[in-house]
Amino acid sequence: MSQQSSHHDSNKQVIIEINRLRELIEEHNYRYYVLDDPSVSDAEYDRYFIQLKELEARHPEYITSDSPTQRVGAAPLKAYPIIQHSVPMLSLDNAFTEEDLVDFDQRVRERLNSTQAIEYCCEPKMDGLAVNIRYEHGTLTQAATRGDGAAGEDITANIKTIKMIPLHLRGKDIPDLLDVRGEVFMSKSGFQRLNETAEQKGDKKFANPRNAAAGSLRQLNPAITATRPLEFYCYGIGDIRGGELPNTHSEILKVLANWGLRVNPLIRTVMGPTHCLSFYEKISGERDALPYDIDGVVFKVNAIEDQEQLGFVTRAPRWAIAHKFPAEEAFSVIEAVEFQVGRTGVVTPVARLTPVHVCGVTVSNATLHNMDEIKRKDIHIGDTVIIRRAGDVIPEVVSVVQERRPHDTQAIIMPTHCPVCQSDVEQIEGEAAAKCTGGLHCPAQQKEAIKHFASRKAMDIEGFGDKLAEQLVDKLMIKSVADIYELTLDEVSDLDRMGRKSAANLLDQFEKSKQTTLAKFLYALGIREVGESTAKQLAKNLQTLENIRAASQEQLQEVPDIGPVVALHIVNFFHDKHNQLIVERLLDAGIHWPSIEAPGAAALSGQTFVLTGSLSSMSREEAKLKIEYLGGKVSGSVSAKTNYVVAGEAAGSKLTKAKDLGITLLDEQAFLDFIASNS
Ligand code: IVH
Repeated sequence: MSQQSSHHDSNKQVIIEINRLRELIEEHNYRYYVLDDPSVSDAEYDRYFIQLKELEARHPEYITSDSPTQRVGAAPLKAYPIIQHSVPMLSLDNAFTEEDLVDFDQRVRERLNSTQAIEYCCEPKMDGLAVNIRYEHGTLTQAATRGDGAAGEDITANIKTIKMIPLHLRGKDIPDLLDVRGEVFMSKSGFQRLNETAEQKGDKKFANPRNAAAGSLRQLNPAITATRPLEFYCYGIGDIRGGELPNTHSEILKVLANWGLRVNPLIRTVMGPTHCLSFYEKISGERDALPYDIDGVVFKVNAIEDQEQLGFVTRAPRWAIAHKFPAEEAFSVIEAVEFQVGRTGVVTPVARLTPVHVCGVTVSNATLHNMDEIKRKDIHIGDTVIIRRAGDVIPEVVSVVQERRPHDTQAIIMPTHCPVCQSDVEQIEGEAAAKCTGGLHCPAQQKEAIKHFASRKAMDIEGFGDKLAEQLVDKLMIKSVADIYELTLDEVSDLDRMGRKSAANLLDQFEKSKQTTLAKFLYALGIREVGESTAKQLAKNLQTLENIRAASQEQLQEVPDIGPVVALHIVNFFHDKHNQLIVERLLDAGIHWPSIEAPGAAALSGQTFVLTGSLSSMSREEAKLKIEYLGGKVSGSVSAKTNYVVAGEAAGSKLTKAKDLGITLLDEQAFLDFIASNS
């Protein structure tokens, strides 16, 4: 072989290897960000990434702008070039009331000359920024902001840093050119983390996730954008050339999802305005629990032919409308400030307000967080303030209306003694919080610990509400969580508004709660900073309570997500004599959980599943990937060899057959639980 051709061969090898690594990395990004179902560990992913970087460093001639290593490659800009949108980026008309929506539907039907109910695609209205992302022959080539709708700014380098946005479309029949439209946003938790870091560094904080997303996207230095937790959902298309799409909006979204783009899983199609309203109500109810901010929902006429017939007026289409949520802010006056003692003893100032309506709810209390916040916002008793009921349920004071400050406002002062148990209140070094030093002798802390223990995500004692916990502590019937299981029927029957029958029911619930999981039990104990997910990690990685109690701070830190502080809280908790006694008493009362297998062999290997009907929280394809990821097999038909049948909504003949054969059936919730307990 001549020298030249062997050189040629080894170069060919390099290209093959570079392409293989790029594909692996993109596949991982897709599974991680779009399917939320990673198939390789982070370490493995990092290894591919490093290998690719090394190869590209040795062969810079093969670096292309669409390589995953180039997501953060671009140099800072001085200003953004302007890009003309080949199809304008429209805005939406708003509806604020039921009537507005009914009117909209009527206009649509009149224009279409239709007497029948119109099919609408219903989508959450993300509170972020609209972007246009162009793919040419499946490769991301350009991205722009909405701008004035006709032209926007070229933010290609910044968009490419968002790993959730594919650099290449996957799958079949990709158009020659496709403009994907969607919203870039920041999750509530991402925003909080970003602001915490900003605070530590003394940088300016962002007012809300939307501003944070906007600020991050309009960074002139893409390296900074890359560090920001930006996310993306696509909700439509602009220009398309050399390709075809289905004839309804909802089907188009499905095709976009199959090409690897992230589509909001809450999107539904419905018939007629009444069902649009139910969607609005449903999303409205889930709003606070969603991981991101939304400011309403959007309804779109689903048939593309109808959309085309309806057209648009100046800046908004006639075929879509945004049904906005009512304003979330209102004015009120601080009448007094009280101090509440939480589960860990933190003393929180709470403002008593002149009651106001915010988003249809009467608000009469707002948290003031801590004394630093009060000082920073310069809040006094008597002030007129702006109240916000945001993502979380507890309303807060946004700011003081200085112009309306009366002469006789009073300063807010942290008490020196706990308002509940009179123990000293102390300021914790380096923290904003003040704490009651009474510990578990303080009835306020007892109550909160008991409420937490009984709550749904903890021991899940049905019928054991906050009021009951307060009454039991106030009557000195219980002081700790271990006392719950020693209550007798006579004692419980004596409580206010409690007949013998409901007392007996409650005792049954106590019994029922004793069968739990290790993760729930750990969470229920209320160890500082051990939330639900940390408790799950502890259970999964250390398997037994004995292992966890005996673990050193170093060993605990080996568990994912556990840092030195949390590890120390766990060690301290189990070293405390009082806590040891409580845990022993709980175990003696009969609390138990199924043992956890050490992770090793794939959890579902050798098990065959059949999926039938539709699931509301994921597509069947996703369900299949989840099963396969755990080592299980998915088959298309039910036979005697089938181990489980997952039956979603409107399951058909497969379900009947499974019943005939006596195969274990899992409904959607049971399936999710099953997957969770095996992963
Ligand atoms: S559709 C022609 N769908 O709302 C249709 N917009 O007020 C134009 N937005 O600029 C947009 N979620 O930034 C659409 N599911 C969704 C949306 C959405 C958020 C934003 C978008 C748009 C603005 C219009």
